[in-house]
Amino acid sequence: MVSIDLHSIGTFLRQWLRNPAKMASVTPSGRQLAHMMVQQLPQGAARVVELGAGTGVFTRALLDAGISPSQLLVVEINPDLVAFLRRRFPGVAVVCADARHLDVLAAEHGLLMDGKLDAVVSGLGMLSMSSELRVGILRAAFAALGDDGRFIQFTYGPGSPVRRREREALGLRVRRTGHAMRNLPPATVYVYQRFHSHEVASVKAQRQDA
Ligand SMILES: C[S@@+](CC[C@H](N)C(=O)[O-])C[C@H]1O[C@@H](n2cnc3c(N)ncnc32)[C@H](O)[C@@H]1O
Repeated sequence: MVSIDLHSIGTFLRQWLRNPAKMASVTPSGRQLAHMMVQQLPQGAARVVELGAGTGVFTRALLDAGISPSQLLVVEINPDLVAFLRRRFPGVAVVCADARHLDVLAAEHGLLMDGKLDAVVSGLGMLSMSSELRVGILRAAFAALGDDGRFIQFTYGPGSPVRRREREALGLRVRRTGHAMRNLPPATVYVYQRFHSHEVASVKAQRQDA
């Protein structure tokens, strides 16, 4: 059965009618996808930034997974959705801003005071963005993420929404971690992490052997 947050669907649909390109989807994500996204948090994750929260399906799942409201920063560009999120999650910092500034925003909100971020959970429609914006957002995310920090992203497309040349430029590896069949439309979850130096050496060696 497809699971949809019925309380949020009207709000989401209205925003989609106003700006389909930025919303990138007619309906909010379902609970199966939200569960698959938060399952990819590193063990013991504490400091998390969520991008493009929409009506808060992933925000709810992050809080349910044990992320403290004080350690969660939500970045959403649509002011109507920001107002909706602030009403729905009064204890969570929700900023109305572009995701490409997330490193500065995380610092301003004190999230980088005792270390770097453990994860960035992205509900952004990455496929409908320019490559420049996509790379800008990932650059800001990895400036704020710790060495083993994860950038967790879903897509409706058939492959990684971050292209190979973009990943190579940023020194990132990718894992496809699951497919939410019951989402509308079905979606796939990808996790991006930095290559560690020994992995870079092994990739270079493989290229020389080939
Ligand atoms: C596909 S919707 C996903 C909403 C929600 N995460 C979900 O899964 O139901 C994308 C969301 O990203 C927001 N958004 C688009 N571009 C953004 C940007 N550059 N910075 C922050 N939020 C953005 C949109 O306003 C919208 O709420």
